[in-house]
Amino acid sequence: MNIRKILSSKVQSAMEKAGIPGEFSPNITPSKNPNFGDYQANGVMSAAKARKTNPRELATQIVAQLDLEGIADKVEIAGPGFINIHLAPAYLATSLEASLADDRLGVETAATPQTVVIDYSAPNLAKEMHVGHLRSTIIGDAQARLMTFFGHNVVRQNHIGDWGTQFGMLTAELEETLQGEGMSNFQLKDLESFYQQSKKHFDEDPEFADKARDYVVKLQGGDENVLKLWQQFIDLSLQHSEELYDKLNVSLTRNDVYGESAYNNDLPVLVKDLQDKGLVQEDNGAQVAFLDELADKEGNPSVVIVQKQGGGYLYATTDLAAIRYRVNTLNADRVLYFIDSRQSLHMKQVFTLARKAGFAPDDLELTHCAFGTMMGEDGKPFKTRSGGVVKLADLLDEAIERAGTLVADKNPDLESAERADIARKVAIGAVKYADLSKTRTNDYIFSWDAMLSFEGNTAPYLQYAYTRIQSIFRKAGVTPDSISGPIVLSAPQERALGVKLAQFEEMLDQVNREALPHLVCSYLYDLASLYMSFYEHCPVLKDNVTPEDRDSRLKLCALTAATLKIGLDLLGIEVMDIM
Ligand code: ARG
Repeated sequence: MNIRKILSSKVQSAMEKAGIPGEFSPNITPSKNPNFGDYQANGVMSAAKARKTNPRELATQIVAQLDLEGIADKVEIAGPGFINIHLAPAYLATSLEASLADDRLGVETAATPQTVVIDYSAPNLAKEMHVGHLRSTIIGDAQARLMTFFGHNVVRQNHIGDWGTQFGMLTAELEETLQGEGMSNFQLKDLESFYQQSKKHFDEDPEFADKARDYVVKLQGGDENVLKLWQQFIDLSLQHSEELYDKLNVSLTRNDVYGESAYNNDLPVLVKDLQDKGLVQEDNGAQVAFLDELADKEGNPSVVIVQKQGGGYLYATTDLAAIRYRVNTLNADRVLYFIDSRQSLHMKQVFTLARKAGFAPDDLELTHCAFGTMMGEDGKPFKTRSGGVVKLADLLDEAIERAGTLVADKNPDLESAERADIARKVAIGAVKYADLSKTRTNDYIFSWDAMLSFEGNTAPYLQYAYTRIQSIFRKAGVTPDSISGPIVLSAPQERALGVKLAQFEEMLDQVNREALPHLVCSYLYDLASLYMSFYEHCPVLKDNVTPEDRDSRLKLCALTAATLKIGLDLLGIEVMDIM
């Protein structure tokens, strides 16, 4: 249930009855301070300003028309014209009961499901995936899960870098290596060193360099032998990525791969189309678009090369082709790109040109969901101690090792298999959550101690809160669905927890629209903290607790656990029963 939406439509209709035209929104937000009710309508002031009337008077007229029978038990006008709404405890309780009885916790699916293309992860297959791809993979995957939960048709697109000049060198190297070893014995154990080895070969052996250049041409010309080698290399490299996706509990599969090479045939057609439309012109042998829309301060247009002198195509050309495919074949309503903010000019250029060329119709949403850089604790881009790029696989192994020590300290009695399983969930959860919980547009500092702490806004804190609730149920000897008495919200801590629980859907809805998964994290963290204070003040299983209170509180515990579980699951983070 989406209380914010219900209140919005109620207040909106009261505003209309008070003579305010529909373009003024009631602007309902959850109150920060319970003294000001549970929700506030802040939209009256701007309506009053436009009508040049006194906002408090207008608020009084609106409140006179406002029918919140059964929903709120108090509505007050405050300050310059805020309307504060206090929800009726019985209304809240009924809504929580309904959530508890529903596997989806009462979250409704979208009334008009959309086709949403989510472009994320997208490593360059020539090299090993590094921490820079971690953010895209983790944040994009959370968004994909969340939108799927709302019933949208989510099309994951792993726009891998699988084309371009490097692959001439790599296929030539692969061929020579295979001549020695044979495909069945060959394993690309270390992509990074394979790349270094071929690069060295290329730099030191002119004959090999010629061959590599020849292979690029052959590859682009569709030569069977080189294509086969290329495919073998791509498969091996993708296996590496997939091992990481598995480890990270990321939902991408082979079916989601649609890389740069897939657009190869469309590129000449596309450039011709841009020429026909007069959007590109020849400049020193290259095909170039000049975009006045993105001109700099001096008025110089922004330059996009779509075809190089000599005929090669570029990153931007492929991205334009991808938009055509996403519109014409995938029928996208929205396309969300989870890509580093350093690519924001590239995205702007591609979007602008796609709109001008009519590849992207006006009603298609194209959004660059940019994110900042992952920094080390020294405030510089995250590197190994020796200054190299941190490999994702190594990073995850270190996380698992560190979590293993922590879990063993916390609960020395665990059997080793169980401890290993818990450590894995804690480690992966911690790494993902550390990334997800920061406002994605900012840079963020990677810190082992902060992310693995059991205090604060971390995955281990939330996982621990979940296990504590599971242990209450074990002690009580009941299951969440066998509790009979109703939810009653009397103590302020019960009420505060109840309000937060009732806000699950509206929070998810906001993330659905704005693609800011850190809001899920802040919500879950607030929820767990409110739960802790509820648990401190409102005993559940003590002897002096009445059976009615016990049932009601057990239900609040059960709903909190279910909300933590589903919320973390939408972030791709697992929970466990003990820790
Ligand atoms: N492969 C690119 C990189 O590693 C990211 C691709 C992102 N997606 C896109 N449609 N441009 O930088």
